[in-house]
Amino acid sequence: MVLLPSLAMLFPLMFLFCLPPLMAQSISTNSSSRSAARALDALLQDYAYRAFLHPRTGVPYDGVLPSNLSGIKIAAMRLRSGSLRSKGVKMYREFEIPIGVVEQPYVERLVLVYQNLGNWSMLYYSLPNCTNLAPVLGLLAYDASNLSATNLPELDFRAFGDPIKIRFSNVQSAPDGSVPKCVWFDLHGLVNFSNLTSGNECLTFQQGHFSIVTESISSSRPPSRGEEKKGHRKVWIIIASVLGGLALLALLAFLVLWARKCKQRKKMQEMEKAAEVGEALHMTSVGDTKAPMATITRTQPALENEYVP
Ligand SMILES: *[C@@H]1O[C@H](CO)[C@@H](O)[C@H](O)[C@H]1NC(C)=O
Ligand SMILES: *[C@@H]1O[C@H](CO)[C@@H](O)[C@H](O)[C@H]1NC(C)=O
Ligand SMILES: *[C@@H]1O[C@H](CO)[C@@H](O)[C@H](O)[C@H]1NC(C)=O
Ligand SMILES: *[C@@H]1O[C@H](CO)[C@@H](O)[C@H](O)[C@H]1NC(C)=O
Ligand SMILES: *[C@@H]1O[C@H](CO)[C@@H](O)[C@H](O)[C@H]1NC(C)=O
Ligand SMILES: *[C@@H]1O[C@H](CO)[C@@H](O)[C@H](O)[C@H]1NC(C)=O
Ligand SMILES: *[C@@H]1O[C@H](CO)[C@@H](O)[C@H](O)[C@H]1NC(C)=O
Repeated sequence: MVLLPSLAMLFPLMFLFCLPPLMAQSISTNSSSRSAARALDALLQDYAYRAFLHPRTGVPYDGVLPSNLSGIKIAAMRLRSGSLRSKGVKMYREFEIPIGVVEQPYVERLVLVYQNLGNWSMLYYSLPNCTNLAPVLGLLAYDASNLSATNLPELDFRAFGDPIKIRFSNVQSAPDGSVPKCVWFDLHGLVNFSNLTSGNECLTFQQGHFSIVTESISSSRPPSRGEEKKGHRKVWIIIASVLGGLALLALLAFLVLWARKCKQRKKMQEMEKAAEVGEALHMTSVGDTKAPMATITRTQPALENEYVP
């Protein structure tokens, strides 16, 4: 039957009404997860500094973490701030630091602590309705004057020329229809999104924590062209489903009426037949042939003028 597919179309219609309402996305982490992340920063600074025994400047040293933090990787590099400003650092793990990076307040030597939070990333830096496609990486600057110091405040650390480049490795591919974004968490809980540059590269002018995320499918954002087309298709499917459903209902109603009419007609025919049988004329033999014979005349003939006064 031609209308049968329309029945199947009614099913997606049902699910469309079950979708959750769409919401905008907040861009600030909550205070309890922020303070947990700041406590982790302090702990990692401590362990990173312990990697220095006889540190040479410009050489990264891997830190060793206790087993309750396994999955996280850290490193520390000590630099003269003059050399950082005039030369930058060609490559420090995923970070490429250009010429012109200046710390504030000024210190003679500083330490750049590198963090790769690995499978702990989501625990400390999860965003509602976002999926991490890469581990969270951190780059934080501290004063290097006392290498056994703990709970050091970070130095403000900015690129005044070119931005710092972060080349992520091991990035998961974004699900179909979603766009990966660079995300930057500053030290005060602010979150900022930006576009990826070439490949899996993000840019920053400041220190903090960085990752690549994609918004979960159900979150709201301005639809791209392809999605708009998809939206149009959805609307058409709804219209087709409704029309198909209505047509199906009309067909059903028609069938019911038709069946009822059929039944009625059959009953009529039976009644007529029964009437015919009941009214069967009495036959009488006239010689060799049988001929119908009326027993009584039902309407008595009357002269038309009989009643006329
Ligand atoms: C995340 O998505 C769910 C459902 O799509 C929604 O209820 C929730 O409000 C969203 N959260 C934010 C912060 O956008
Ligand atoms: C903050 O986030 C944590 C999980 O990261 C959650 O347990 C807590 O309830 C959140 N607090 C607020 C006020 O949203
Ligand atoms: C891991 O253990 C160290 C002591 O070895 C402790 O200071 C730290 O708070 C622990 N960290 C976590 C996340 O449990
Ligand atoms: C991360 O993975 C390590 C093993 O590689 C495991 O010991 C640790 O518990 C994991 N951490 C989290 C937060 O899942
Ligand atoms: C370095 O820091 C440690 C721990 O805070 C402290 O005990 C020590 O006195 C400091 N050394 C100097 C030279 O300030
Ligand atoms: C956040 O990122 C945008 C670019 O995506 C930039 O224009 C803006 O200045 C950034 N905000 C801060 C506070 O850095
Ligand atoms: C990010 O990329 C999108 C297209 O993918 C573009 O429309 C948008 O303007 C870009 N944003 C910035 C800040 O460059």
